[in-house]
Amino acid sequence: MTQATIPLIEDISILYSEPKLKGAQTRWASLVRDFEQLYGRVPDFIARSPGRVNLIGEHIDYAGFGVLPMAIEDDCLIAVAIDHNDSTVKISNSNGAKYPALKFVPKPADQGYVDIDPQAHVWTNYFAAGYRGLLEDLQIEKPNGMLCLMSGTVPAGAGLSSSSAFVCCSVNATLKAQESLLAGKTGPTAHELAIISIRSERYVGTMGGGMDQACSILAKPNSACFIEFHPVLKVTPVAFPTTIPPVAFVIADTLVTSDKAVTAPVRYNLRVVETRGAARILAMALGIPIPESGKLHLKQVLDAHFDKIGFTAAAGKTEAEIDIEKLTEMGQIVERVFGTEEIKDGVTFEKLCELSQLSGDEFTRLYIQQPIRAERFHLYRRAKHVFGEEKRVVEFRDTCEKAEAKKQTAETVFSLLGRLMDASQESCHELFDCSCDQLEELTQLARRSGAYGSRLTGAGWGGASVSLVPEDKVPGFIATLKKEYYNKHHPELTEEELENVVFASAPSSGAATFVGRDPIAVEMVITHIVNHINTTIDKKVDVVVGLDARGFLFGPLIAMRLGAAFAPVRKAGKLPGATIQVAYEKEYGTDKFEMQADSIKPGQNVIVIDDLIATGGSAAGAQELIQKLQGNVLEFIFLIELEFLKGKDVLKAPVYSMIKA
Ligand code: GLA
Repeated sequence: MTQATIPLIEDISILYSEPKLKGAQTRWASLVRDFEQLYGRVPDFIARSPGRVNLIGEHIDYAGFGVLPMAIEDDCLIAVAIDHNDSTVKISNSNGAKYPALKFVPKPADQGYVDIDPQAHVWTNYFAAGYRGLLEDLQIEKPNGMLCLMSGTVPAGAGLSSSSAFVCCSVNATLKAQESLLAGKTGPTAHELAIISIRSERYVGTMGGGMDQACSILAKPNSACFIEFHPVLKVTPVAFPTTIPPVAFVIADTLVTSDKAVTAPVRYNLRVVETRGAARILAMALGIPIPESGKLHLKQVLDAHFDKIGFTAAAGKTEAEIDIEKLTEMGQIVERVFGTEEIKDGVTFEKLCELSQLSGDEFTRLYIQQPIRAERFHLYRRAKHVFGEEKRVVEFRDTCEKAEAKKQTAETVFSLLGRLMDASQESCHELFDCSCDQLEELTQLARRSGAYGSRLTGAGWGGASVSLVPEDKVPGFIATLKKEYYNKHHPELTEEELENVVFASAPSSGAATFVGRDPIAVEMVITHIVNHINTTIDKKVDVVVGLDARGFLFGPLIAMRLGAAFAPVRKAGKLPGATIQVAYEKEYGTDKFEMQADSIKPGQNVIVIDDLIATGGSAAGAQELIQKLQGNVLEFIFLIELEFLKGKDVLKAPVYSMIKA
């Protein structure tokens, strides 16, 4: 399992649920079309990484504890064409008006390939972070060039991990683009790519815990992911109980944007420092040795403590029961160590250092890699949240996994899971201070409107909420949120805009690279050919002639795009009405071709299209037919040309082929 690489896919319908598929197909196709217009060629592949919604387990991944997100259908796509001769990288956004393009020539490996200024909050930082992180891992001296076009649907600042989806997509795209330089070595596995993505995102200046990247890369379809970080990264799919009605999760964005990177010094990164400080001081209180590097998180403190006291579980207890017992005891230890008058309501930096037995400089060197600003550091409330939240994660997972064996009713399952989500929200609000008024309003409204549980998702301080709703109640639930929250606070939003603000998302699968055949591939071919015609032929094309049989696949689509007529050339005896006929030479004998006598008027301009040109016999047959009708062949177009057979020598008009072999 851990050896698997990022899957190569040829059909995007496996990535989206039925209601979203049509919109996704249009988006993928426009990406290809825009790419062609921008760079004058078709992309070699499209990398895809999804956003995620965290169901439970907030702000505990960087404390080393397991979390339970699921990948969503909204995602980041990067279409890429590889340049094997020039290392230059160009990255543009499909929303170019808002997000300006970037072009750079990579620096040598020992200079980190590309400069990233975490203080400059530009969108391309996320691309650069993934690009740099991956190349550093591969240690490539002269990377292949990459022409890239990005399209993202994960709303930014909504807590749905738009930034990690982008970083993961960049890592994935960069790997695929550099594959030819791996000299036969196998590249990183998907599991390794998740770790590289976690490391890479730190280049943009946040000290993230790893949940988002692991979920974006490793999620499996139709399930949530239980992600553990310690001692090693491990992802276990967790299926939802098969209740009637099924469980559904509705995501509702407060529309208060909270950009993790921008507010990091007073929010996200500060929480990381608080939990690290709490881990150190708890370890000291429990007589647990602290490594020289100072690196120790609350999960390691828990493990070390129970090792030290020689904990053995009572016979017959399940793993979940044992975890809960340990986490409850840790909660009591937090009360004892941090629940004192001196510490409970927060401590100054000086006090934090004193409790850590470190000078200010030492504490900063060990625990503050990115700038932070705070008057007080809350050891008690943060540590209490972390152990309590992990307990809820364990219970949530256990409920999902055992519901069927316990024959629990839908009502029981919904109530159990919902209660855990509500308790998580309360803890985020009261202890971790990562909620906000709008999240409180929206989650309370959700509960009043039929959700069994509702909580913030992601880093918080704004962004989205996630609510547990029985599937059959979803439309009514969404309608109420629109009426009671969005119409009140955001009357300017249209019904269409609201579709992307409050919606149910099916669990999606993780990162993938699209390389192949399906409507998108057809779109790539059509767009390429039409673009070629429009940019190189200055006459109006009147008729597109397609040759039996694969010319019929592409010819009509191209004719439609050009506003031209389509005329088939078929084997004898197949066309109705008056026809004209020629015999033509094939590689293995002769055959007869026909066209309808009125399909081309004298003097009309014609393009001939087929999938392949070998010896050119059938194309020459079509040429003769067109001549008989006094048409004027502007060009022969083929997807593939077998050059060594010199087929083009028998044709009297120019030949264009997409691929020469
Ligand atoms: C952000 C981070 C994650 C995690 C969440 C809070 O999304 O990227 O690693 O810490 O916040 O749970």
